[in-house]
Amino acid sequence: MLKLGVNIDHVATVREARYRGRGRGEPDPVAAALLCEAAGCHGITAHLREDRRHIQDRDVVRLRESIRTRLNFEMANAPEIVAIALKLKPAVVCLVPERRQEVTTEGGLDVARHRKALAATRQRMNDAGIEVSLFIAPEIDQVEAAAEVGAQFVELHTGQYAEHFSRKRERNVELRRLVDAATLAHRHGLRVNAGHGLNCENLPVLHIVPHLVELNIGHSIVSRAMAVGLPKAVKEMLALMKGYRD
Ligand code: PXP
Repeated sequence: MLKLGVNIDHVATVREARYRGRGRGEPDPVAAALLCEAAGCHGITAHLREDRRHIQDRDVVRLRESIRTRLNFEMANAPEIVAIALKLKPAVVCLVPERRQEVTTEGGLDVARHRKALAATRQRMNDAGIEVSLFIAPEIDQVEAAAEVGAQFVELHTGQYAEHFSRKRERNVELRRLVDAATLAHRHGLRVNAGHGLNCENLPVLHIVPHLVELNIGHSIVSRAMAVGLPKAVKEMLALMKGYRD
């Protein structure tokens, strides 16, 4: 069964817009995570950025203590955040690139270029009982490098697919890249997640990508929740994922 990890960063984005630096405020991303779990999601994803623009340190501690599914802790490979992850012990960390100027995580990791540093962090996480996922563009070189680094998962960046969704020719090129990357990753024994920019419109077409284990979806669920509430937004997404057959 294809699993859904809900990224609750944007719940914290709304809170920080009003309560930045005050150590409290609404909406509460932990309460949101519990609602998503009750609606049937399989995991919660949260990104503790170095600039703390949305999720705060206290949020990840409370998430770790409260949620009953799996915490997928999204993070840059930066010493301060690595130390927090090792203490927090989430089920899995997803290593992502981070640039201050970006609105959200815009590109995949250049695993081939940062192989040594990523392999060292992968080892430290695994030694602490934490699985490691690498967020990568659907490119052959990056998949090969992720396998060499010894990661347990890759998360294929679906941003380009989402971006080109309305143009059929470009969309099909992006789908092909995802299919090829997923196939190769699976052949290397990597488990395959995917995420970024997925929504109710582009999700059904993504079903042709093989070997998917989990999708991480944030913005569209949190946005839809404004109209219909979080439980319904999560259930709608789960229903769209139901027909997935590997
Ligand atoms: N996966 C990763 C690694 C991400 O960085 C993000 C966005 O923060 C997502 C999934 C979710 O993307 P979206 O909010 O567009 O659904």
